[in-house]
Amino acid sequence: MPGDGIQHTGEADATAPLAAARLSVVLPTYNERDNLPVLIDRLDAALAGIAWEAIVVDDNSPDGTADVARVIAARDPRVRVIRRVGRRGLSGACVEGMLASSADYVAVMDADLQHDETLLPKMLAALSNGAADLAVASRHVEGGDVGTGLSGVRASGSGLANRLARVLLKVTLSDPMSGFFMIRRSEVERLAPGLSSQGFKILLDIVATARGSLRIVELPFVFRERLHGESKLDTLVALDFLGLILSKLVGDLVSIRFLMFMLVGASGVLVHMAALFAMMELGGLSFPVAQTAATFVAMTTNFWLNNRLTYRDRRLRGFAALRGLFTFYVVCSVGVVANVGVASLVYQEDAGRILIGLAGLAGAVMGAVWNYAASSVLT
Ligand code: GDD
Ligand code: MN
Repeated sequence: MPGDGIQHTGEADATAPLAAARLSVVLPTYNERDNLPVLIDRLDAALAGIAWEAIVVDDNSPDGTADVARVIAARDPRVRVIRRVGRRGLSGACVEGMLASSADYVAVMDADLQHDETLLPKMLAALSNGAADLAVASRHVEGGDVGTGLSGVRASGSGLANRLARVLLKVTLSDPMSGFFMIRRSEVERLAPGLSSQGFKILLDIVATARGSLRIVELPFVFRERLHGESKLDTLVALDFLGLILSKLVGDLVSIRFLMFMLVGASGVLVHMAALFAMMELGGLSFPVAQTAATFVAMTTNFWLNNRLTYRDRRLRGFAALRGLFTFYVVCSVGVVANVGVASLVYQEDAGRILIGLAGLAGAVMGAVWNYAASSVLT
């Protein structure tokens, strides 16, 4: 191809047999159309002399990132694409990408150019000389920096999360929230069954799951600013993080999803009680009517919260969400009958507030138990 006047950076000779990759670089993407081609070119330059491949794991980005990735893959066989439909989540995408590798080493890095690809050869050297199983790019060791890549709020939130992880999970990493690391694939295979697919904190999850069985090195890097597109980390992701900490603390006995479900259930009981009293005291409704109405209010907020939090990786939107809500009403209708039935049995006409509260509560708890049983059978 030399001599045709066109620059072919980032292109492998398509006719030459491809050496088996020694390093897979997993690139999770969600709306990174403009960043991905630049990143592949930069990887090509940074990894010269190393047999590498890139595994793009795209969650069906609306901006067409997967198509862009396939155009690159069509002329560069070192680039592979996994397009996931109907699922969302950074951690799950990273795990899936790592498990699709057959190389000895796998790296995970953001595809938005915020991570410094020139660190990859140093990470590989640290692992291949046998000194470590996991190399972490850290913003918090000598020479590293969060740079201008994080806003003030994000920086302090990230600091708090670091402290929580260190204290609660006894993780000694300086930057457990880093999304940039390289690991021996054999270790990924070993730990994979214990990893959660929810949330953003894949590294923290790996280290907490390994319980001290990984030899770790940290290498400094400076977090770059994002040029195209925007960050997908939001407050719900912070909740996922708390969920991960909780589930690791209780030793993986319960899943993050179950914890979320319980939290949502508990909030539903609170909503129920508030609605019940408001309708009886302010609205002057009779107990059975108010209890029934309160049940529907709590069911609606429960559904909404579960859809946003517990099952956010397969969240329903628009009409599908509405249909889901009505299905939920139908599934829970037996729970409603049980709820109002129990509550009315307990309830007495001239009872004081405390008794009304107890009656409402008995019903709400009854309903919650039913809903939990029904949902776990159904899903
Ligand atoms: N497949 C997939 N699915 N990829 C995703 C998803 C998802 O649901 N959400 C985000 N990504 C991809 C983005 O396209 C990007 O390549 C990378 O994951 C990081 O996402 P950002 O949205 O840019 O995250 P950030 O810059 O706010 O957060 C980064 O820094 C944090 C520490 O401050 C990430 O590296 C985090 O892992 C890290 O904790
Ligand atoms: Mn980013």
